[in-house]
Amino acid sequence: MKNLKAKPFLKWAGGKSQLLPFFEQLYPLELKTGEIKNYYEPFLGSGAVFFWVAQNYDVDNFYLYDLNDDLIIAYRVVQKDVSRLIEVLQCYDASYRRLGDFERKEFFYNERVIYNSKRFKADSLYSEEWIKRAASFIFLNRTCYNGLYRLNSKGEFNTPAGEYRNPEICNRDNLLAVSELLKRAIIKRADFTAVLEDLKSSAFIYFDPPYRPISKTSNFKSYYNNDFSDKDQEKLADLFKELDRCGARVMLSNSDPKNMDPHDDFFDKLYGDFNILRVCAKRSINSKKEGRGYINEIVVMNYS
Ligand SMILES: C[S@@+](CC[C@H](N)C(=O)[O-])C[C@H]1O[C@@H](n2cnc3c(N)ncnc32)[C@H](O)[C@@H]1O
Repeated sequence: MKNLKAKPFLKWAGGKSQLLPFFEQLYPLELKTGEIKNYYEPFLGSGAVFFWVAQNYDVDNFYLYDLNDDLIIAYRVVQKDVSRLIEVLQCYDASYRRLGDFERKEFFYNERVIYNSKRFKADSLYSEEWIKRAASFIFLNRTCYNGLYRLNSKGEFNTPAGEYRNPEICNRDNLLAVSELLKRAIIKRADFTAVLEDLKSSAFIYFDPPYRPISKTSNFKSYYNNDFSDKDQEKLADLFKELDRCGARVMLSNSDPKNMDPHDDFFDKLYGDFNILRVCAKRSINSKKEGRGYINEIVVMNYS
């Protein structure tokens, strides 16, 4: 395994960094032998698996999708305009760092108001304005509580300020390395079904959809600001089967509903024809202490 030069530049709920060593044993053989040439990650988030695959395997093309407009704008700007993005981020970094705790909070909440005063659509044409927008999004992401992207009912970003001594607002070398890597990527704001439209031969698809809540009271799913219902999970399972019929290699992860209810076999039924593994993952998204700890994550593969 190579040392990863480029790493995720966003913090994201459900990020897969800590599962990477385990996932490494689960990738299809064709990825290891170099036969896989096209990689798809339709629920991109911070893209932990993308960064791993892109730097460890010989894949030609990467197709990265997410429904979050500002997340996609940030990736597109890192891809296309990284030097100018770094300049703006360095200004945020310098302004923020010289402040005391109280002023840092003021600075954060002020930036949040500015951010919420405008909406951007990532499916419109690339615009110069995206650079400032991406910097604002990255700044808020790196300094808010736990990197959570949470919206209120009016669609406003409402995560509170985090308490970091030394937040990484602008990691110049990393952003440059990420930009280099993204040169081989097609990045778009799209629903997960876009995979089928863009599908090429020799494909590996990794799905990491919003989780089903791990308990009746857990609002873990709502952090993604979209209700990914059981109907969506079923639609995704249909796509998984369709991709399987097309000859693609497919892997999917989700939280295991058996964590809370040993009789809940929702995914076992949905993916009964495929390989299902359970793996222990640390979940720390819940602000309440009792919601943290180790729970099982479920992994489904259409290969052995
Ligand atoms: C569990 S997170 C992915 C985390 C990612 N694997 C990582 O390492 O950070 C799920 C992502 O799916 C996105 N999403 C939600 N619904 C979607 C949909 N219908 N199509 C595509 N992306 C969607 C969310 O914006 C979120 O970024």
